[in-house]
Amino acid sequence: MSGPRAAGDLLARYYDLDLEDDPGDLDLYLALAARTGGPVLELAVGSGRLAVPLAEEGYEVTGVDMDPAMLDRARASWARAADGVRGGRSGAGSLQLVEGDLVTLNLPQRFGLAFIALNSLFQVGPFERQREAVASLARHLRPGGIAVVDVELPDAAELASWDGRVVLDWIREDPEAAGSTVIRMSSARHDAVTASTQLSVIYDVTDPSGSVRRVSRSDRLHLLTAQQVEDLAVSAGLEVELLAGDHQVTPLGPFSQRVVLIAVSL
Ligand SMILES: C[S@@+](CC[C@H](N)C(=O)[O-])C[C@H]1O[C@@H](n2cnc3c(N)ncnc32)[C@H](O)[C@@H]1O
Repeated sequence: MSGPRAAGDLLARYYDLDLEDDPGDLDLYLALAARTGGPVLELAVGSGRLAVPLAEEGYEVTGVDMDPAMLDRARASWARAADGVRGGRSGAGSLQLVEGDLVTLNLPQRFGLAFIALNSLFQVGPFERQREAVASLARHLRPGGIAVVDVELPDAAELASWDGRVVLDWIREDPEAAGSTVIRMSSARHDAVTASTQLSVIYDVTDPSGSVRRVSRSDRLHLLTAQQVEDLAVSAGLEVELLAGDHQVTPLGPFSQRVVLIAVSL
């Protein structure tokens, strides 16, 4: 395969290489899934980093994403995990994957837990689109169901460093292409006027013969304050239960590096 889809497949694969640095949020979603009993909806499911282990744990999980290459990886990851489930290593959940825009999503099911994890809300678009995304979370919950929104709160030093400079993020071996080395570089440029950051990511891949291939992507990330995240939940009709400052649900405080909102559907 060549062309845009092949590049999309590589970008999805290298996203999983990014995730070698574990964000450490799975236990939060496992605990909330246990509290509600599921079923679970993940908006912007990506390659299934959270959805697959939740399904392995025995929950009925639905994951939504607009990127078919990401969904292919989630599907393959679940197929591998489900072999383990059938082999008796864990519970017997399910994973349904839906391709589409999470903002306009209208599934017939209602869920016990619905979440949008790890900065995905930044990718959805400007504030009005983010409002619709949180409304989408809310409308897919049954009464008493729980919504979670998790985004980073970059501090002043981090914002100041997003001045367009190119930084080396990591150099890793590609486990899916023996002998290939991937170098990730990125450049972020923050615009205070729109509170948004243009993030360009470049992956240079050297294969065993020494030839180099470059794939890249560029996204505009629409940042949010903790207050805005709370406002989005309230305007979606959710009752805010907790604003946490990390995945261990330490209450949000001065200089928290992220906001994890946990809210209940009335
Ligand atoms: C940072 S990844 C997060 C993946 C996963 N939730 C995780 O935590 O590893 C963001 C994902 O959001 C998806 N995405 C962004 N905007 C979307 C939209 N409007 N509708 C559906 N998916 C979207 C992208 O395709 C991408 O897979």
